[in-house]
Amino acid sequence: MGAILGRVEAALTRLLPPAEAVPARLHEAMRYATLEGGKRVRPLLCFAAGELTGAAPERLEIAAAAVEMMHAYSLVHDDMPCMDNDLLRRGKPTVHVEYDQATALLVGDALQALAFQLLAEQQVARDAPTQLEMVKALAVAAGSRGMAGGQAIDLQSIGKTLSLPELELMHILKTGALIRAAVALGAQCGRPLGGEQAERLDRYAKCVGLAFQVVDDVLDCEASSATLGKTAGKDARRGKPTYVSVMGLANARELAEELRGEAHAALEGFGEPALRLRQLADFIVLRKF
Ligand code: IPE
Ligand code: IPE
Ligand code: MG
Ligand code: MG
Ligand code: MG
Repeated sequence: MGAILGRVEAALTRLLPPAEAVPARLHEAMRYATLEGGKRVRPLLCFAAGELTGAAPERLEIAAAAVEMMHAYSLVHDDMPCMDNDLLRRGKPTVHVEYDQATALLVGDALQALAFQLLAEQQVARDAPTQLEMVKALAVAAGSRGMAGGQAIDLQSIGKTLSLPELELMHILKTGALIRAAVALGAQCGRPLGGEQAERLDRYAKCVGLAFQVVDDVLDCEASSATLGKTAGKDARRGKPTYVSVMGLANARELAEELRGEAHAALEGFGEPALRLRQLADFIVLRKF
């Protein structure tokens, strides 16, 4: 995984506009938001899914960078005063604090556009129709029926209690969708998967995508700001419905554990090539940051 992380870091460093290029302040802020920091879970999932389909690392690093840029954009906007109003991200001041709000807004806009530019201009799939499917998958995952839609539900739910199905939908959209896309894009960089295999891989991705946000909710109330690199305890203070507020800490942890089991079950039959996907399911649920 260390080697993959190094590769992803190098790709992001190369693919982001140079900090000196005009408009320098925007480009510097894009690099600030994206480089150095972050667990890089989505790129790792992308590479791990690519192992199932024999995808070339040169393709995977483009797909992984596109997904990570989309994710970095979502964090920059998520932290803005009009959303979660956070001061700390990845152990550093948030982009709107280090720069300003207008720059933070534009960093998000530009990172999202660059993600699509990369998927459009570099060859990442075996043929054009497959590549077009990848572009569409990322668009759907980021849009109003994916991340942006989940964020809208998140903001309109402040101070309310949600039913479990409502909470699940919010989490599937705001976080699950992009994680699901990371897995799908990674696989599509290689050989086509058979229908049943593709379906199993997607089931895995849905489980780890939901588990990721359940654990994020748990850590927000259990871990410290120092270990998280972001302000802990924010959800309760802002009156956000989370898995912890709706079902309690112990039940939330148990749910994450169940989802880990389901993720492993979905991978049965894939054998050795799915080792990294299994390890990532474990990391996503057992992580402490
Ligand atoms: C945080 O994501 C926001 C959520 C979707 C829960 P990560 O926990 O992946 O953040 P980084 O990339 O490691 O900073
Ligand atoms: C963020 O959820 C989801 C997205 C950024 C799309 P949170 O608001 O819980 O993420 P953190 O806890 O600030 O990282
Ligand atoms: Mg949020
Ligand atoms: Mg937040
Ligand atoms: Mg959170």
